[in-house]
Amino acid sequence: MFSATVSAPTNIACVKYWGKKSVALNTPINSSVSVTLDQNDLKAVTTVCVSKSFKKDRLWLNGTEEDVTKSKRFMACISGVKRLATTKVSTEGEVLVDKSEWKHFGVHVSSMNTFPTAAGLASSAAGYAALVAGLAEVFGAKETYPGELSTIARQGSGSACRSLYGGFVAWRMGKDHDTGEDSLAQQVCDENHWPELRALILVVSDEKKDTSSTEGMSTSVNTSKLLGYRASTVVDERMRSIEKAYTERDFETFGKITMQDSNQFHATCLDTYPPIFYMNDVSKSVIKIVHAYNRWKGKVAAAYTFDAGPNAVIYHLEDVADELLALMLQYFPDDKFLGSLFGSSFVNNPQAWDRAKAFGLDDELLRMCDAKGRARGMGGDVKKIYITKSGPGPIVLSKE
Ligand code: DP6
Repeated sequence: MFSATVSAPTNIACVKYWGKKSVALNTPINSSVSVTLDQNDLKAVTTVCVSKSFKKDRLWLNGTEEDVTKSKRFMACISGVKRLATTKVSTEGEVLVDKSEWKHFGVHVSSMNTFPTAAGLASSAAGYAALVAGLAEVFGAKETYPGELSTIARQGSGSACRSLYGGFVAWRMGKDHDTGEDSLAQQVCDENHWPELRALILVVSDEKKDTSSTEGMSTSVNTSKLLGYRASTVVDERMRSIEKAYTERDFETFGKITMQDSNQFHATCLDTYPPIFYMNDVSKSVIKIVHAYNRWKGKVAAAYTFDAGPNAVIYHLEDVADELLALMLQYFPDDKFLGSLFGSSFVNNPQAWDRAKAFGLDDELLRMCDAKGRARGMGGDVKKIYITKSGPGPIVLSKE
């Protein structure tokens, strides 16, 4: 038996993938680009064991066995990585497994997520990236061209291909619609390129979303004219501009495109028939607050984005991190978070609301809240807050 344990990060797209060109190959109708987050809080940890004595491939997700025998996605990852397997040789040079033998090995996988599954925080991205990275480690897989493993992760879940690299990562849609072999991830900048960049994540709901991405995309492709316009006319130019902005560490442009693209993605959801609503009132409050904050700063200092769920990710730079967190906590108090994380910081302060005013927040921001500093008309509190930044791709934790 051979095994490897790996962890893989999630990623949050700035230009979103929405819509499949080929459902069978899981190729997209447009390219996309995302920031890979660091692995402190949000990651999948996956152990892959392979043995000739395993009669069938099996998966345990967060401790519960899932029936994967009919999961084309899971099976595509296993067979894809097996195709790239190499002969296993001991340190003494003895052949342990010839590469032709791997096909007789069954695969057992146990995977844990450290964040809400299917709540629109790209848990499938981290999960399938960890699966492919773990399989690649066990089978000693060697790519025949750069990005080949990402084409396999893509077949598990589209966004997973981007989690195989750290930093700022593009998923090029590709031109070969028969094989999908050029629909792959490419690192634009590594995880050390923009150390000041931060992401503040407000978990608004940790419940499973009611419309899965796959199902939502299919309805959007079939019914939304706006989606077709977006893919043919908008995305390419946005990709060029945002990659340049990230490379030049130009937050103003990076942030503006990120917000515009999130808004357009959710507009295509509304244009879908019947419409899909991923954002809720809390999400909309976050949008208003971020725009009011940016007006107050006189520049784009914070940029929100929402995936297929109500949870907010707010990109910003380190120099406004405390201020932005304090501001968000005025609107979306999170007592557990305040108590546990900021024992001595100014945000754990009964007079925190006065502090926010002391930042000089203008009347517009204050008008949006009640006396306790909660945004008016808000649907509920946030469940959890994460503060993170860009990080590396999958990490091998152990192997035997
Ligand atoms: C809104 O990658 O979860 O997060 O390929 O069907 O598994 P499947 O979809 P998935 O979709 C992610 C959609 C998104 C945007 C993005 O991450 O680019």
